[in-house]
Amino acid sequence: MHFTIKTLTVVLCTFISLTACDQNKNTPSSQGIISSSLQALQRDSQPGAALVKKKCISCHYLNRHLTKVGPSLKGIFGHAPSISGVPFAIWNEKTLDQWLANPTGIKPNTLMAMPGIKSKKQRKAIIDYLKQI
Ligand code: HEC
Repeated sequence: MHFTIKTLTVVLCTFISLTACDQNKNTPSSQGIISSSLQALQRDSQPGAALVKKKCISCHYLNRHLTKVGPSLKGIFGHAPSISGVPFAIWNEKTLDQWLANPTGIKPNTLMAMPGIKSKKQRKAIIDYLKQI
């Protein structure tokens, strides 16, 4: 993993220093942009990213704190639920897994009107993705 990021960073930095004009060359801010773009690239190529795009973004924003149909999912991992009526103090691997497996089983009148995700593997991939946004 680290090796891949390093290699990519080296390749990208070389590319940028070859193509960018002098004033942009290897400044701390351009390196910051490169490494956060790399993180985003890596995150968005995970299996969970495709699942979340397919199953969640019709109702949830992922990258800004705005309510769509449901509340934003940005940064929820490790935080208390913003919704009422769920018997959880925090969204973590266990509680998110239970919620995604069966939202109406946890909160019968929830507006998250979707069938639960049956596959444990898919739920794990989704949760791994949610940890990073
Ligand atoms: C049909 C629209 C819809 C879909 C699709 C949907 N959600 Fe939701 N979601 C909601 C609504 C509405 C709420 C608020 C529920 C409530 O208040 O009972 C919610 C709440 C949540 C919460 C609680 C957030 C908080 O701030 O406490 C999580 C976590 C969540 N959804 C995750 C997901 C994930 C992950 C997916 C995709 C697998 C998904 N949702 C798909 C509508 C949806």
